[in-house]
Amino acid sequence: MLLSNNGAVLLAATTGIAAVQAITLEVTNDDSIRSAASTIAYGMMTYYTGNQTGKEPGLLPAPYYWWEAGAMWGGMVEYWHYTRDNSYNDVVAQAILAQESPTDDFMMPEEADQLGNDDQVFWGLTAMTAAERSFPLPSSANVTYIQLAKGVFNDMAGPRWNTSTCNGGLQWQFNPNNTGFYYKSSIANGGFFQLAARLARYTGNSTYSDWAEKTYDWMARIGLLDSNYYVYDGTDDSINCTAIDHDQWSYNAGTMLLGTAVLANISSPNSTSIWATRAQGILDGAQEIFFSPYPNATNVMFEFMCEEASTCDNDQFSFKAYLGRWMVAATQMLPSLKPQAMDLVTSSAQAAAASCSGMNASVCGTKWYVGGWDGTKGLGQQMTALDTIQALLVNGTEPPLVVPGS
Ligand SMILES: *[C@@H]1O[C@H](CO)[C@@H](O)[C@H](O)[C@H]1NC(C)=O
Ligand SMILES: *[C@@H]1O[C@H](CO)[C@@H](O)[C@H](O)[C@H]1NC(C)=O
Ligand SMILES: *[C@@H]1O[C@H](CO)[C@@H](O)[C@H](O)[C@H]1NC(C)=O
Ligand SMILES: *[C@@H]1O[C@H](CO)[C@@H](O)[C@H](O)[C@H]1NC(C)=O
Ligand SMILES: *[C@@H]1O[C@H](CO)[C@@H](O)[C@H](O)[C@H]1NC(C)=O
Ligand SMILES: *[C@@H]1O[C@H](CO)[C@@H](O)[C@H](O)[C@H]1NC(C)=O
Ligand SMILES: *[C@@H]1O[C@H](CO)[C@@H](O)[C@H](O)[C@H]1NC(C)=O
Ligand SMILES: *[C@@H]1O[C@H](CO)[C@@H](O)[C@H](O)[C@H]1NC(C)=O
Ligand SMILES: *[C@@H]1O[C@H](CO)[C@@H](O)[C@H](O)[C@H]1NC(C)=O
Ligand SMILES: *[C@@H]1O[C@H](CO)[C@@H](O)[C@H](O)[C@H]1NC(C)=O
Ligand SMILES: *[C@@H]1O[C@H](CO)[C@@H](O)[C@H](O)[C@H]1NC(C)=O
Repeated sequence: MLLSNNGAVLLAATTGIAAVQAITLEVTNDDSIRSAASTIAYGMMTYYTGNQTGKEPGLLPAPYYWWEAGAMWGGMVEYWHYTRDNSYNDVVAQAILAQESPTDDFMMPEEADQLGNDDQVFWGLTAMTAAERSFPLPSSANVTYIQLAKGVFNDMAGPRWNTSTCNGGLQWQFNPNNTGFYYKSSIANGGFFQLAARLARYTGNSTYSDWAEKTYDWMARIGLLDSNYYVYDGTDDSINCTAIDHDQWSYNAGTMLLGTAVLANISSPNSTSIWATRAQGILDGAQEIFFSPYPNATNVMFEFMCEEASTCDNDQFSFKAYLGRWMVAATQMLPSLKPQAMDLVTSSAQAAAASCSGMNASVCGTKWYVGGWDGTKGLGQQMTALDTIQALLVNGTEPPLVVPGS
């Protein structure tokens, strides 16, 4: 495969495939945004086979892990919320509820060997989104979305909050058989932090905000967040968290950005609170690390650790989806973030749309900064483009629901 100097992708003649017209996206035209999102969602849903006869609803086929399915359904709930296209709602609700588990907390026994705190929290955050968006609940459901989100919270706020080392924190894996049992990761703790913050806002119950604050404080004390508000990957509890893995992944910043913005929203009537300062700091940090890889790609999002070196794995291909999704959600919680966040998301959405020109316009690429399709395709590529583009519709949409006392 060759990249031409104008960024269009020319495939080697032997493949017999030519680059095609990209998705057209006018970023200030709601119909254009809806149409782009619909094309990309269609491409994304071609990866889903769980609703076919004999397959298990909710799951994606290999090589995609259980967690990513949970994360994808969150993007599809947002798809309906932003576009009001309900074509996939039945499939999405069936998928979420099929993984509810006997204990109503997404603790699926058959996923035990790949089910860590981060995996479970992605499903919990999806259930939380479904509750906040009043996503239609099938009449056959025996549980509500908010009950599922609370089920996940209750697991993590129990004995899994492990004070025997590092004075607290969640391990990445809670199953001693799994690699990562001795690692306290930002995605596990940051996911829990965000879930707790959103439960606090939704219910008005301060037990949740107390946990959110405790988790943030622990992460900052251990050094998973620094004075630049960079969010680092994790730390080793077998050495009492005395060393930090300084890798930076966009989804870690995303979890912390929305969580801090939610706490700003519920803790202060204006944007001067400590949580607003933190949210602004995390946005600034994310802008420095995850945007503008080259002078020719100002404000275009990229996955700092792996994208330019072409070493992203299937999980990592999807990470930008969560930064895009949560950055925009944060603007509704803390409007002072809006001009900066929407500039970043708008430029990224434009570049993402240009990348959707693979075998056809419903096939998107990874490296948005090349100005076209980069020759890669996959579920993560669809998710990142969808989450980033559909969020441009945020102006016309309701903020997340609150149900005080629930
Ligand atoms: C959303 O509203 C802001 C003003 O609050 C405006 O600058 C921006 O262009 C709007 N975005 C879209 C996509 O309509
Ligand atoms: C599965 O869902 C897709 C939408 O993604 C739909 O097109 C298809 O008809 C569904 N298949 C079955 C068997 O229900
Ligand atoms: C709901 O049904 C599932 C099986 O479909 C079961 O595992 C779960 O325990 C049930 N939950 C409640 C609250 O009845
Ligand atoms: C807490 O962490 C320690 C050290 O990693 C571990 O030995 C212990 O099993 C953990 N406790 C729980 C409940 O996971
Ligand atoms: C482990 O780290 C925690 C938190 O940083 C600290 O409070 C504790 O004293 C340390 N324990 C040991 C045995 O060094
Ligand atoms: C860990 O592995 C052992 C041995 O295979 C098994 O008996 C046990 O149930 C596993 N524990 C969990 C929590 O999956
Ligand atoms: C707040 O949430 C906690 C944790 O679920 C629960 O134990 C407590 O009863 C709730 N408080 C109120 C007033 O609902
Ligand atoms: C903003 O809120 C803080 C307390 O949260 C208060 O001290 C300050 O006076 C408020 N500022 C404005 C401009 O309302
Ligand atoms: C909290 O969120 C609501 C809903 O988006 C918004 O109207 C309000 O301005 C926000 N409050 C603060 C302090 O940012
Ligand atoms: C687009 O191309 C992909 C990959 O070859 C294929 O699976 C999909 O069916 C195509 N979509 C359309 C609308 O032609
Ligand atoms: C921008 O520059 C980078 C690095 O030289 C290059 O890989 C990329 O293709 C360029 N993008 C465009 C749109 O020309």
